Amino acid sequence: SNMAANNNITSSSSPPPATSQPTSLPLREIPGSYGLPLLGPLADRLNYSWFQGSEKFFKKRIDKNQSTVFRTNVPPSFPIFTANPNVVAVLDCKSFAHLFDMELVEKKNILVGDWMPSTKFTGDRRVCAYLDTSEPQHEQIKNFALDTLKRSSTIWVPTLTTLLDKMWDTIDSQLPSGPVSYLVPIQKFIFAFCCQCIAGVDPANSPDIAEKGYIRMDRWLGLQILPTVPINSFQPLVEIFLHSFPYPYFLVSRDYNKLYEFLEKEGKEVISRGQTEFKLTKEDTIHNLLFILGFNAFGGFTILFPSLLSALASDKTGIQEKLCKQVREKAGSESGLSLRSIQEMDLVQSFVYETLRLNPPVPLQYGRARKDFELSSHDSIFKIKKGELLCGYQPLVMRDPKVFDEPETFVPDRFTGEKGKELLTYLYWSNGPQSGLPSGSNKQCAGKDFVTLTASLFLAHLFLRYDSVTITGSSFSAVEKPKSKP
Ligand code: HEM
Repeated sequence: SNMAANNNITSSSSPPPATSQPTSLPLREIPGSYGLPLLGPLADRLNYSWFQGSEKFFKKRIDKNQSTVFRTNVPPSFPIFTANPNVVAVLDCKSFAHLFDMELVEKKNILVGDWMPSTKFTGDRRVCAYLDTSEPQHEQIKNFALDTLKRSSTIWVPTLTTLLDKMWDTIDSQLPSGPVSYLVPIQKFIFAFCCQCIAGVDPANSPDIAEKGYIRMDRWLGLQILPTVPINSFQPLVEIFLHSFPYPYFLVSRDYNKLYEFLEKEGKEVISRGQTEFKLTKEDTIHNLLFILGFNAFGGFTILFPSLLSALASDKTGIQEKLCKQVREKAGSESGLSLRSIQEMDLVQSFVYETLRLNPPVPLQYGRARKDFELSSHDSIFKIKKGELLCGYQPLVMRDPKVFDEPETFVPDRFTGEKGKELLTYLYWSNGPQSGLPSGSNKQCAGKDFVTLTASLFLAHLFLRYDSVTITGSSFSAVEKPKSKP
């Protein structure tokens, strides 16, 4: 609703400009170049993945070009990949927002750039995240995804509470013998939670999936995105060997088939809804559910939860005490944890938003120009040609100094109050503003609200159970229980 009112950048779905509105910005040629054929992309690729790393890579080029919009190459590229590495980088809030305007950009097959993992990983079909809004199947599947989340809203809080109690009981029982790594317990929790809330299936019903479901998911997920994920150790061997080939599906086909069979057997209700209400075939339903559950949800949370915990760990401002106070005030004994009480915890939610701002789990977003159009940054206007690929790097965009005060600092209450609410228009982790609505006609994450509320519930549950937790690396080294409770 507030997106419709703010049509003053380029067209209807862009958020408002960050600064007071300058009416005419100068037209500028897009700076930067793609370099010599083959050598240019190779040099950029080695800098991106090896010498500089992605963040420095983009930062250096902002400085060099004196612009947050410029031409560069990004991986993957030759010799094995047929991808075209040429992109126009968009690295401030205003230019990045053009990626949300589905009249300006097409999102067909560009989830991870001008290269797509083999469709063998997804049952020989293109799943929702690779479909453009102009393809009718996109809306069908997106609505199906939104519907499954809506339907699970009644089991959401009790499922989360049960699974988290189980996770913390296990961690509690192991703590006396030393620090406990949270990586496996959290992945098991996320896997079970996503299975129940997204597909209505319980891993506990299958001994194989209960034990190995999350590892099967990890392997399937890892293999398809490995070629594009920057790995900054063991270079340049990694670059040459790991990033030069797409991996063959057969390495994980057994894992995927096990997950498929599990869903097919246990998910009869959700599958039949996909078929009758959303007119999908049975196979389309299952493969898309697996992708949403595994790639979108499980993959996303697997990055987000550790980020939340390291934000707690690195805080020096006494944030745990403040969060604890708010949680117990709003969800103390009589009211309890609920979708209503969580809405009242503005500091808890702001902490989650700030974590997503500084650690967006999906760092890169792409969009291909549907037509020639004019793109604006804070200071200039650029001419984009039909077919050009725009590439946004969220970690830098979310530290745009024209939008965020103290952009490099983790400010836990940044998103509270009136001003904080306005800032949500510029929080982009979901491939759209946090104030926007995911729908069949855009490409915003279907789990936009589910994700932030689940993360808030996770923190609230933690601070109902403990006064504080001590985290070292990826382990809990101590937890302090409330003294009032036995
Ligand atoms: C798309 C992030 C969880 C469903 C996306 C996109 C991002 C994203 C960045 C857009 C990708 C692009 O087009 O460039 C995340 C993160 C999550 C998360 C960080 C968790 C921390 C979920 C959950 C669901 C979900 C729980 C469950 C329904 C989807 C779907 C799409 C999508 C269906 C495709 C949207 C479309 O094609 O229109 N997600 N997501 N995501 N996400 Fe999420």
